[in-house]
Amino acid sequence: MTKVVEIKSLKKNFGSFQALKDISFDIEKGEVLGYVGPNGAGKSTTIRALLGIIKSSGGSAKIFGKDVWTDSIEIHKDIAYVPGDVYLWPNLTGGEIIDMFLHMHGSFDAKRRDELIKKFEFDPKKKARSYSKGNRQKVALIAALASTAELYIFDEPTSGLDPLMEAIFQEEVMRIKAEGKAILLSSHILSEVERLCDKIAIIASGKIVEYGTLEEMRHLTRYEFKVETAQPLVGLDDLPMVHDLKIDGNKAIFQADSDKIQEVLKALVPFTVIKLDSNPQTLEELFMHHYKNGRG
Ligand SMILES: Nc1ncnc2c1ncn2[C@@H]1O[C@H](COP(=O)(O)OP(=O)(O)OP(=O)(O)O)[C@@H](O)[C@H]1O
Ligand SMILES: [Mg+2]
Repeated sequence: MTKVVEIKSLKKNFGSFQALKDISFDIEKGEVLGYVGPNGAGKSTTIRALLGIIKSSGGSAKIFGKDVWTDSIEIHKDIAYVPGDVYLWPNLTGGEIIDMFLHMHGSFDAKRRDELIKKFEFDPKKKARSYSKGNRQKVALIAALASTAELYIFDEPTSGLDPLMEAIFQEEVMRIKAEGKAILLSSHILSEVERLCDKIAIIASGKIVEYGTLEEMRHLTRYEFKVETAQPLVGLDDLPMVHDLKIDGNKAIFQADSDKIQEVLKALVPFTVIKLDSNPQTLEELFMHHYKNGRG
């Protein structure tokens, strides 16, 4: 596997404030990395360091095996980027701005640009000053997606898009992924992250607190059990793998670690199970945990 992005113990201080304390992650070809974390955690700062807009204070960051600071001009030819706040020149039309972005980038696919304009139902003839937030985002998205690049960096690209347009964005991400491109997607839309990403890095207060494949993340989450038995359920609260137990005679609802399902079933069998329902918790619950604990 080829590492497109390789960050090791990256640090960034603004004066005495440590915005990035210890950031490490990789992105390989054909891989989508979800970059998730509370407001102010350091996602955009990481992205700005990767783009060579700001100089890191320590650690290393490489794209295509090259240093992001010293080799930034060369690296940029193969990166497409969509910022969170899209700035547009108010007197130019959307179409003119898309073309300007594309020419600034260098290599692009004009046919794809036209297809994307149609798919995103974008009117390129209007002056940018009249565009809504969603339409401003579409300008940057169309330009990025029509650019020929090996790494696509999206910093909260869909916060202004309606659900239909968000679905189009997701389709496009899957398309570039299938072409073997690497994608860094910072997003607060957890369903989008869950759907698109192969790997997830959760950042809180400038540190990566969780990093792994979606599958590995799922192992961190628990299963919820709903059970009804012939005999009253006793002793469940003594089992170490059972959490948040709510019990009402012959019925119980509880959570259990996902690698302890067999033990849970063994404990239930003696009570004669009548009904059993079990579901993995969503990743959203794991994310929420970090959103709550990762503040400040
Ligand atoms: N130029 C700067 N000077 C001083 N502090 C900065 C600067 N840029 C960012 N910061 C601080 O670094 C921290 C990380 O900010 P960053 O924009 O990376 O967060 P984020 O994870 O992208 O948040 P959001 O989800 O709101 O976009 C914040 O506390 C921010 O105030
Ligand atoms: Mg940000």
